[in-house]
Amino acid sequence: MTSDSLSLTKDTFDHQSNKINNYHPIIIRLEEISKVYGSGNATVHALKNVSLTIEKGESCAIMGASGSGKSTLMNIIGCLDRPTSGRYYFDNLDVSGLPETELAAIRNSKLGFVFQQFHLLPQMSALENVILPLIYGGISAPARRDRATIALEKVGLGNRLNNKPNQLSGGQQQRVAIARAIVNNPLLLLADEPTGALDSQTTQEILGIFQELNDTGITLVMVTHESEVARHCQRTIWFRDGQITHNS
Ligand SMILES: Nc1ncnc2c1ncn2[C@@H]1O[C@H](COP(=O)(O)OP(=O)(O)O)[C@@H](O)[C@H]1O
Ligand SMILES: [Mg+2]
Repeated sequence: MTSDSLSLTKDTFDHQSNKINNYHPIIIRLEEISKVYGSGNATVHALKNVSLTIEKGESCAIMGASGSGKSTLMNIIGCLDRPTSGRYYFDNLDVSGLPETELAAIRNSKLGFVFQQFHLLPQMSALENVILPLIYGGISAPARRDRATIALEKVGLGNRLNNKPNQLSGGQQQRVAIARAIVNNPLLLLADEPTGALDSQTTQEILGIFQELNDTGITLVMVTHESEVARHCQRTIWFRDGQITHNS
């Protein structure tokens, strides 16, 4: 067994503090993941034997040309889609073959998603948008309001609870989307080109929020095609034609 097949990396016991140091459980383990769309002449090999591990607490940028497989990878990591072959362990559970109902439960309890287009419901206030993911959690209505309010305060929107998306700037709408993504206290935040629709000043603000969330322990995986954005992550993984070409 190689050290890479252990779910813990080098851990050392510190007798003075009575704690394990360098304890880095792996949150994402992809083993030879392939994804094929279509059939016959229309077959697309979007991912080809991709293997990758990401540890809890990491921040990781995914880069590569358009069509290189970044969103396909994110959809698989986020349990929105299943690989054609290979295994995917999320938080030490093999999720590659789970039925949709179980994937949905994992998505709702352990994952948060942020997209380039904010995907907010236009007729709902910021608070109502953030409450939505809590509806299925068996939490009372007042507790849902409290948790959504706290999430919006975390992203600096405590004073915009009752505004609808069209009364908010692009950066503020993306903050609402981030609040919605974190309201269930996810282990992993997935962001697919989250600053792609924002100006550079707003991009910096949003990256600051991601940094703060990552500092609290949330693992962050973010697709971007700006190296300026990727620079904010600890690690960058490059894709070309459905394969990893560089993994720092
Ligand atoms: N649902 C789909 N059906 C068929 N082909 C798809 C589908 N989604 C993505 N593809 C194809 O898979 C490849 C990778 O796409 P994608 O993962 O979206 O790349 P990226 O996010 O890096 O731009 C592309 O050739 C794309 O056209
Ligand atoms: Mg994409």
